[in-house]
Amino acid sequence: MDGMSDMPGMDMGGHAGHDMGAMTHGPAALPEGEALRALPPLANEAGRRPGLFKARLMAQSATARFVADRDTSILAYNGMSPGPMIQAYEGDSVEITFANRIEREQSTIHWHGIPVPADQDGNPMDPVAAGADRVYAFELPEGSAGSYWYHPHPHGRTAEQVYRGLAGAFVVKAKDDPVPVEYGDTVLMLTDLRLAADGSMPDSTMADLMNGRVGDHVLVNGQKNPRLKVAMGAKRRLRLYNATNARFLRLAFANAAMTVIGSDGGLLEKPVATDEILLSPAERVEVVVAFDRPGAATLTTLDYDRGWMGAGRPADAGLTLLTVDVSETPGEAMPPLPERLRPIAPLGAPTVSRRLVLTETMAMNANGMEMDFLINGKAFDMARVDIVARAGETELWEIVNKADMDHPFHVHGTQFQVIERERGGKVAKPPYLAWKDTVNVARGETVRLLIRQERPGARMYHCHILEHEQLGMMGIVDVQV
Ligand code: C2O
Ligand code: CU
Ligand code: CU
Repeated sequence: MDGMSDMPGMDMGGHAGHDMGAMTHGPAALPEGEALRALPPLANEAGRRPGLFKARLMAQSATARFVADRDTSILAYNGMSPGPMIQAYEGDSVEITFANRIEREQSTIHWHGIPVPADQDGNPMDPVAAGADRVYAFELPEGSAGSYWYHPHPHGRTAEQVYRGLAGAFVVKAKDDPVPVEYGDTVLMLTDLRLAADGSMPDSTMADLMNGRVGDHVLVNGQKNPRLKVAMGAKRRLRLYNATNARFLRLAFANAAMTVIGSDGGLLEKPVATDEILLSPAERVEVVVAFDRPGAATLTTLDYDRGWMGAGRPADAGLTLLTVDVSETPGEAMPPLPERLRPIAPLGAPTVSRRLVLTETMAMNANGMEMDFLINGKAFDMARVDIVARAGETELWEIVNKADMDHPFHVHGTQFQVIERERGGKVAKPPYLAWKDTVNVARGETVRLLIRQERPGARMYHCHILEHEQLGMMGIVDVQV
């Protein structure tokens, strides 16, 4: 793909895929080191009715102050970006009124990863017009505790509405949680912001559409490199969300020990110690971090080559996302993590197998460069059903990446189990069983997963680099009873 920057109509950007305006003035510098703020919870308005979570989410334009004296126009849920955190319990009924007050744009709310009925899942086929309200109602099944999120999913506008600020965490708590309460439970929502010197968010360039939009600043709960204080010996339960459009985050904790306890769809069977975590766009991981050494413990990024088209590959390594100040004097002793977290039943033998091949095509035409991101040679068509599946049947999906970039593959409506990865003729089993709704398929790699949809209706599957989803890398599985 090198040499594309010479083609007419292509602005590959100088670094990090900036547009010319931002390049001229340089990106804005953001303040760092403020105290980490917890995501504000979405208040439950159900009053005294137990088991019901009832609230309203309004999407609207808002003004943010990332830099002193500069207003940034963003999109926000209830005036906030990230949106308020929803916390509900397994078994709860949820009733959320969505008020779309985005000017002249349709939107939806998609409940990423939660097994909600297809007609409540904010599909692009069910848009909410500008100015309209709609109620999303669903139940959170027993056993569904996990780290989910919500974001818009309107046809052709998802990428933009998300990078402009619309995304929030949705944590489903277990009634019986084996993780000690002393660890707390903190959501860290990682988002990506590009800001021009005048405080505006530049439009996406051709390079952004091709690679996915990567910003200048990775934010944690809306803040750049915030600080958190803990006592020496503390253990903290952290839920890390990659809510960026397109940034791959290979994460490490310097001066603290990380243990993975959960994936997208909740707890693992048992804790797994780890040095680093690759979190591709839309993936989540639950970790317990042990702060046993005084001083600063930092959450940082390592280098990861996800395949970059053209010039301007962003500098991925060496970013400090969060600084934890660990006290000199030890705090109260913390209970240990239990050895078993919860059972995960393997999905078992599939009755159907399917092969989904991911490709990219680029061609010049009268309008400049045209890019298509395809699944089995086809770009998304809202009027076409790509796969017909049966509710309750286990299927084997083989996702084959024949493209030059990694593509994080996501399916709506259920959680799946990755059983195998193959690259360069080598087959590897995943290190542990986990419930996932998004899995990175590296370039040249094949990922095999078992999946079972329990409920009928149309479900989307797509690359979660949102610009790729927009340029065609999405399909529809129609689940029938
Ligand atoms: Cu977060 Cu269609 O997905
Ligand atoms: Cu989704
Ligand atoms: Cu992709």
